[in-house]
Amino acid sequence: MSYLVKNYNRKKISFKYGKGSYLYSTDNKKYLDFVQGIAVNSLGHTHPKLVKTIKDQSKKLWHVSNAFQIPEGEKLAKKLCQKTFADYVMFQNSGAEATEASIKVARRYFYSIGEPNKTRILCVKNSFHGRTLATIFASGSKKMTEGFGHVGGFDHFVFGDHKSLKKKITKNTAAIMIEPIMGEGGIKVIPDWCLRELRKLCNKKKILLILDEVQSGISRTGDFFAFEQSKIKPDITPIAKGIGGGFPIGAVLMSKKIASAMTPGTHGSTFGGNPLAMAVGNTVMDIVSNKKFLKNVKSVSKYFLSNLNDIKDKYPNIIKEIRGRGLLIGIQLKTDQMKFIKKLMDNKLLTIRAAENVVRVLPPLNVKKSEIGQALKIIKKVCSELN
Ligand SMILES: Cc1ncc(COP(=O)(O)O)c(C=O)c1O
Repeated sequence: MSYLVKNYNRKKISFKYGKGSYLYSTDNKKYLDFVQGIAVNSLGHTHPKLVKTIKDQSKKLWHVSNAFQIPEGEKLAKKLCQKTFADYVMFQNSGAEATEASIKVARRYFYSIGEPNKTRILCVKNSFHGRTLATIFASGSKKMTEGFGHVGGFDHFVFGDHKSLKKKITKNTAAIMIEPIMGEGGIKVIPDWCLRELRKLCNKKKILLILDEVQSGISRTGDFFAFEQSKIKPDITPIAKGIGGGFPIGAVLMSKKIASAMTPGTHGSTFGGNPLAMAVGNTVMDIVSNKKFLKNVKSVSKYFLSNLNDIKDKYPNIIKEIRGRGLLIGIQLKTDQMKFIKKLMDNKLLTIRAAENVVRVLPPLNVKKSEIGQALKIIKKVCSELN
């Protein structure tokens, strides 16, 4: 029997080691891993530079309190600010912590300028911002919040319903928080023009824009942030997943104006930004923020998406739509999602579900074109078998 709480419906498979795009199971099978810990292992499994970083740093220093200065964290924060809109960074350990802290930062900003009633956060109905008590209520999903009482402070609008979005902004709204690409929600991309209008709306209403890049950020789309293509700047951006390459790191990026509200004692984290995590983050950042690396993500993605669209055209009874950008890809099916995922897995390709009957395909960002080719072959085979 398992002593783990059954809050996951786990597949009956475990792995003994991983290398790059591949996972090796305890029953000696080799799988092409296009889940990568759900967009976490941005450099695949056991990347030699990350292994070396962990080895080197673990011999020097793992953890000290944020009561002291942490040079590795200073270094990573500087890199993140130089690469993005942000002026300041606050480190956490996970995505949900980062999104929840973003809510705190937004509220605290208005408090600091003498508007303490501006506390409400406007989010997309059935979005995903994590599993803490506040973030499940931010998501506005009945399934996620059922049985967990009530946390107030959130309003919701339906994805794409711009009229209702505008109507839901009140004098107490502090911020709009959205995912530029809804990951768990089914790889739904917010069009660039929408992001631009959203920015304009926030400026007009004097409220903040929080863009949750936990899943879509850290070069996953071929830009460091998914929103970059729209040429707008958010006020606050939570990140996590890819920045740690498998090591738990979260962070809130923010502008100077907002950061000024976060005075000593307003937020904290025992583990957030510890030297071991920061050393890993620095190595990941050096690799994934490189222009050539980003260009390669775009080129591999182009190959993947165009071939997936060809498969869709060949099997219109199976695939409804190919969604996504960069290597954040969704295959929306007309057939049963779980059956499709199982068949891919039987053929040694690992993928994961998302809402709207979408199969998420999340290769590591350094995936080889030949590995994409291998995945395409498996996807085609499964489509033809189900056709
Ligand atoms: C957009 C978004 N925000 C927040 C989270 C929560 O991150 P974590 O699971 O690290 O708490 C996720 C996780 O999937 C996410 O996709």
